[in-house]
Amino acid sequence: MVDLWHVTFEVFRQKDNQKSHFNFFELDINPDEYVLDGIERIWAFTDRTLVFSHACHHSTCGACGMLVNGVEKLTCITSIRDVTRDGGKIRIEPLRNFPIISDLSVDMSSLYSRMEAVGHQPILPIQEEDSKGKVKSEGDLLRLADCIECGLCISACPIALTTSNYIGPAVLAGAQQHGELTPCILELVNSENGAWRCHSAYECTEVCPSNVDPAWRIMELRRKIIANRFSSFFTRK
Ligand code: SF4
Ligand code: FES
Repeated sequence: MVDLWHVTFEVFRQKDNQKSHFNFFELDINPDEYVLDGIERIWAFTDRTLVFSHACHHSTCGACGMLVNGVEKLTCITSIRDVTRDGGKIRIEPLRNFPIISDLSVDMSSLYSRMEAVGHQPILPIQEEDSKGKVKSEGDLLRLADCIECGLCISACPIALTTSNYIGPAVLAGAQQHGELTPCILELVNSENGAWRCHSAYECTEVCPSNVDPAWRIMELRRKIIANRFSSFFTRK
């Protein structure tokens, strides 16, 4: 039989732009369960008004990102054992650098629209027909390999904290992976809020739960921008 741990969840609450506060919930929980399990139990048995985002429960959809004890985590793969002890606390807050919708849920639409601006689209769950009746396969679409669009890198980024227009690590990594820098993408990533704004803090790579390594990709993107400018200089007529 598993020994349950007694853990206090300190949960950030904010509704309708009112003043934020923390609620405290005591749980007896298996330490090998995940932080998301604890949050779901609070919602199911104690407070149905608690708002949070989740879907797949296996680190694929990118919906369950939160701050756990001040660090960006996918809560569906962060075990209780890894972030506290028996009799301890876990502080849960929404991701930084995104508008709060309610409690632990944030609005990531800026990330999705910027991803589209650099040529990435979500993979369609089913095949679709285009206007000519031709079936589009997943191969026609492009998604940044490994990026689950969880937003953890943006939450951890010190530049995103001070500059809301900074297009951010996930999107710059997406532009780097895009085959060619089209004039449109080049203009975006070569702007004052693009690749040159990064201060190489590497916080993004530190928290990324996937294999993207956004900080490395931003450095590669800079090289790509410089190469592109050189080649356009020498081919100019
Ligand atoms: S680059 Fe990593 S941390 Fe950033 S959105 Fe993609 S998977 Fe999440
Ligand atoms: S619930 Fe999908 S990544 Fe955590």
